Amino acid sequence: MSSQTGTSQKMTIHKLAQMKRDGEKIACLTAYDASFARLLEKSGVDVVLVGDSLGMVIQGAETTLPVSVDDMLYHTRCVANGLAGEQGRALLITDMPFLSFTTVEQAVLNAGLFMKQGGAHMVKLEGGADQAETVAALNRNGIPVCAHLGLQPQYVHKIGGYRVQGRDQKSADKMLADALTLQQAGADLMLLECVPELLASEITSALDIPVIGIGASAACDGQILVLYDILDISPGLRPRFSKNFMASADSIEDAIAQYVTAVRQGGFPAAEHVFS
Ligand code: KIV
Repeated sequence: MSSQTGTSQKMTIHKLAQMKRDGEKIACLTAYDASFARLLEKSGVDVVLVGDSLGMVIQGAETTLPVSVDDMLYHTRCVANGLAGEQGRALLITDMPFLSFTTVEQAVLNAGLFMKQGGAHMVKLEGGADQAETVAALNRNGIPVCAHLGLQPQYVHKIGGYRVQGRDQKSADKMLADALTLQQAGADLMLLECVPELLASEITSALDIPVIGIGASAACDGQILVLYDILDISPGLRPRFSKNFMASADSIEDAIAQYVTAVRQGGFPAAEHVFS
């Protein structure tokens, strides 16, 4: 068992909620392996996400759809080992991959694997109010949940591409209602991807749980980016909402540190990284 001191330094859902109340920005990044996880931990990142973006940046697929539960479990274990090799302070979230939560039972079993065998502290799942029952069941079983609204890459073929979501009044109202329903169901964190700035800011104010933005708003309680995008090594074009932190850095460590500082001090995202 960890010493009391070690445990008290660890990031928890309660500390994240306190950061929101205190107006302290939450710095989050993705990671997929132990070496990068160690660098993230050294930089003081608050939350590390093993995103299913690994399908694109690690596996070279065109979408996140081919990623399996086994892939997520393997990479979660790698990242958990890397974090533990340093302070082990960051909160570790694992994405539920495409079709790994089609029923409540399947969701609990797969999320349980990520926690028990992978070392995750929370799972993230895409979907609106229709996922409320799953979120509630995960919650009942002691599994913290990060909900994911806005652009949901697992729905890419349904929505016809990667585009900003919530631009018309009807879809904006639905997103706000979904966010409130998911919070009510027990979600501990909310991720908003590619959402107009005003709507993202409105959702952030309406929720008690912390809201993490990506292509959303500087008013969100925290920010997340894909690690390989900030290091400018992702295949293909870097998304407009991301920023190449290597451009002004001496090293990978420096780029990560610059990102963390920019998020903490409100320097990222700037106007060119959000949508109207
Ligand atoms: O899979 C991923 O990396 C994500 C992003 C929103 C960070 O979900």
